[in-house]
Amino acid sequence: PVVEWLAPQAGERILDLGCGDGALTQKLAALGCVVVGVDASAEQIAAARARGLDARVVDGAELSFAGEFDAVFSNAALHWMKRADAVIASVHRALRPGGRFVGEMGGAGNVGKICAALVAMLDRRGLDGRAAVPWYFPTLEEYAAKLTTGGFAVERIELIPRPTELPGDIGGWLETFAESFLNRLAPADRSAAIAEVAAALAPQLRDNHGKWIADYVRLRFRAVK
Ligand code: BEZ
Repeated sequence: PVVEWLAPQAGERILDLGCGDGALTQKLAALGCVVVGVDASAEQIAAARARGLDARVVDGAELSFAGEFDAVFSNAALHWMKRADAVIASVHRALRPGGRFVGEMGGAGNVGKICAALVAMLDRRGLDGRAAVPWYFPTLEEYAAKLTTGGFAVERIELIPRPTELPGDIGGWLETFAESFLNRLAPADRSAAIAEVAAALAPQLRDNHGKWIADYVRLRFRAVK
């Protein structure tokens, strides 16, 4: 749906902000768009370049582009960028007048149960769990206000609960995404911590068939410069 909100046209210059390994960037390129992908992770950018994409390691809050894109697109990345005002200012600068910023990210309540269990796990060990949270999950009102303050006209914005079945168990998800919590612990203590968080979450997120359903909430928006 977020690509439908983007409505990419062949020949448009599009910046994919937080492009990861470039899977979606490549789809935009295949539609005839001239796409640049940026991501803070050198490893992800190497994977995107291996697909033949123009991909660069850049911090989303410090884009150096000025007035050169018809659209900035972002999927499942903005919630990793905690300096939201700086990111919005940076995107605004990168767009031509009339250009659009279209994105989907985690919104208020996203992975709320998972996050609470991780915070509690660290707190039980005498550490500051909240300080380890690496994500920014704004409410619709908060993000709309930030976009408006940043010079955008918000055309559409929605908060959408989207419980999502995980491909494996929660342990794999935690190993992939909860590094900022787990790296507070000695390596030898991490698997016990994962098992503890999984045990706390099982009654809340595992269904009758043993499938894990993550409590995702999406915030989707389309705004114009
Ligand atoms: C997501 O909402 O896409 C997400 C949130 C936190 C970690 C990983 C993914």
